[in-house]
Amino acid sequence: MSGGRAMTVGHAPRGATGLVQLVGAGPGDLGLLTVRGLRAIEAAEVIVADRLGARAVLDQLEVERGCPLDAEIVDVGKRPGHHAVPQEGIIALLVELALAGRRVVRLKGGDPYVFGRGGEELAACRAAGVDVEVVPGITSAVSVPAVAGIPLTHRGLATAFTVATGHDQIAELGGGRDHTVVLLMGVGTLANSATTLARGGRGADCPVAIVEDGYGPGQRVTIGTLGTIAVQAALRGVRSPAVVVVGDVVRLSPYAPAELAVDGYAVAAAHDPFALHGTPDDPVAPPAGAPSEKGS
Ligand SMILES: C[S@@+](CC[C@H](N)C(=O)[O-])C[C@H]1O[C@@H](n2cnc3c(N)ncnc32)[C@H](O)[C@@H]1O
Repeated sequence: MSGGRAMTVGHAPRGATGLVQLVGAGPGDLGLLTVRGLRAIEAAEVIVADRLGARAVLDQLEVERGCPLDAEIVDVGKRPGHHAVPQEGIIALLVELALAGRRVVRLKGGDPYVFGRGGEELAACRAAGVDVEVVPGITSAVSVPAVAGIPLTHRGLATAFTVATGHDQIAELGGGRDHTVVLLMGVGTLANSATTLARGGRGADCPVAIVEDGYGPGQRVTIGTLGTIAVQAALRGVRSPAVVVVGDVVRLSPYAPAELAVDGYAVAAAHDPFALHGTPDDPVAPPAGAPSEKGS
């Protein structure tokens, strides 16, 4: 496969059947859709879209173009007054459309493979002999913390991160505050998750951020600790969709209260004097012999 083309799997020759592209829409901001995803949407005959993230991106695209997209849009997400189409129904629809020769984009929030059931949809298309490819998207697990000024790793604060759901066995996660935990679908189980994580190496005063509706009109950031966050969330009426971030990196957010906040540049420089030099306004080159790797 040359030129970094997306891998196409399946056995049917193109033309005999259509094509399904599982496209990640990112967190819901058109600017965070990939170029490859945009091209797929523009070439599609039918777009089967989720509500969260995906629908917002299509709406923004139509506003930017000043006219509707050429493709027929099938909304399979939950809408006020409508239930979401069940997963088997979505898979059956994708296969049916592709076998009828249509070029289909299955537009999913974030990245199709991060708690997105993309692997199941890919497998079902392959099993039905349908050409299918994946166009990765920018997952909310990384981009939604970023909109609140929270990097998941930072020199001197965190060297690893785990993405889980509120339903996962986070009790077995281990690690301390330098191991960031990102919870998706974690609002309903927040009190439980906070208690569980506080019992381990992180402790009740470990910082926590909740970022609701990242990049959307309802974007809001709530910051506290594992010991306080459930009460804060209840008082503020925190709602889904939201990403929960647990760990010392939360202290880098401009939304962090003064008693939690730290200066990210100073922390990194104190941790590794060879890695950073001067000030952000007046950087100087590292001395000869200093380590050249500057990651995390
Ligand atoms: C079923 S998971 C899908 C995750 C998606 N595949 C991804 O990579 O972002 C849905 C969860 O993603 C998170 N989420 C997605 N978009 C979000 C956004 N714009 N703001 C806050 N949370 C978001 C929420 O935790 C939500 O409950």
